[in-house]
Amino acid sequence: MDYNRLGRTDLKISRLCLGTMTWGEQNTEAEAHAQLDTALDAGINFIDTAEMYPVPPRAETYSLTETYIGNWLKQRGQRDRVILATKVMSRSDDLNYVRGGNNRLNREHIEAAITASLDRLQTDYVDLYQLHWPDRHSNYFGRLGYRHDDQDKPVPIKDTLRVLADLVAAGKIRTIGLSNETPWGVMEFLRLAEQYQLPRVVSIQNPYSLLNRSFEVGLAEIAHREEVGLLAYSPLGFGTLSGKYLNGQQPKDARLTLFERFSRYNNEQAQQATQAYVELARDHDLDPAQMALAYVNSRPFLSSNIIGATSLSQLHSNIASIDIKLDDDVIAGIEAIHRRTPNPSP
Ligand SMILES: NC(=O)c1ccc[n+]([C@@H]2O[C@H](COP(=O)([O-])OP(=O)(O)OC[C@H]3O[C@@H](n4cnc5c(N)ncnc54)[C@H](OP(=O)(O)O)[C@@H]3O)[C@@H](O)[C@H]2O)c1
Repeated sequence: MDYNRLGRTDLKISRLCLGTMTWGEQNTEAEAHAQLDTALDAGINFIDTAEMYPVPPRAETYSLTETYIGNWLKQRGQRDRVILATKVMSRSDDLNYVRGGNNRLNREHIEAAITASLDRLQTDYVDLYQLHWPDRHSNYFGRLGYRHDDQDKPVPIKDTLRVLADLVAAGKIRTIGLSNETPWGVMEFLRLAEQYQLPRVVSIQNPYSLLNRSFEVGLAEIAHREEVGLLAYSPLGFGTLSGKYLNGQQPKDARLTLFERFSRYNNEQAQQATQAYVELARDHDLDPAQMALAYVNSRPFLSSNIIGATSLSQLHSNIASIDIKLDDDVIAGIEAIHRRTPNPSP
């Protein structure tokens, strides 16, 4: 396993991070614990979760994922072996079962969220506390074509940062990170941190895969110049980059078969691009999913690649991607497909 510094901190995170958002929906608690044991054995020390998980979110399963992780931490007694990241939910119109709805990144909600997360995780502190998505209206979750909303009244970023600063001072969180953020958002968080001596964000958890390289447009430069690296989520485009949904296939119990509402990674252009990536992998005797992960692993602006799995065989295969170095022919092939079909799943 390789390790990277988390932002400008002294924390060393594995280049592969274990994603958890299927635990409590597609995966049982026993399966979650087996994944955690397998990941730690392979040298992964970084775990990503969220108060909102599992996904797709629903009232009946809300926060089960953190509970499973907390039980595992308690049983194994290895809290200091893992770097634990979770997230506080932001503004949402349809998750009213969380704290009575109208969630915002303000003091009331963030303090209630971290108290409940620490309780479920059975720990005194979270290593990385992330804002799951911005409080303001902007382009995230695949939205393109920015339209400014003059009526929008977001919680001021400075207010959110002050709450987070108090949580750092209280020892409840060690570092803070952003997710589903834009270049303006990241730079604004950095600017306010410097101006008011507030905590500096250490990471940007955004989507990044062969089907969505939009991070490279504005955020990759920030990742390098400001040392705020990418935590890449959905590196297999919800599993599509394995090729298993091509030609109308609907594999049993797979995410897109189970949840038809997920459409980000299977539009017509994404299918065309996926077909080309899968053929490229097979031409070079590579497993398509491992090629897709190895590409993400090799990006210089990456801090960690958040892999997800619903079975131990998937997990073993995905972990093995860390040892695959793509040769120049494969990279050239990937770039050619990307030029023909750039970012079909923004
Ligand atoms: N910040 C955010 O808004 C956000 C959003 C999404 C994810 N995340 C984080 O990122 C993590 C990973 O995201 P993701 O689950 O969407 O990642 P992904 O790598 O795009 O998809 C993972 C899914 O693909 C399938 N799969 C995995 N390995 C496979 C293989 N070798 N062959 C075939 N199918 C395979 C599995 O689902 P099936 O078995 O059902 O096919 C697995 O659950 C999450 O757990 C979460 O921690 C964060």
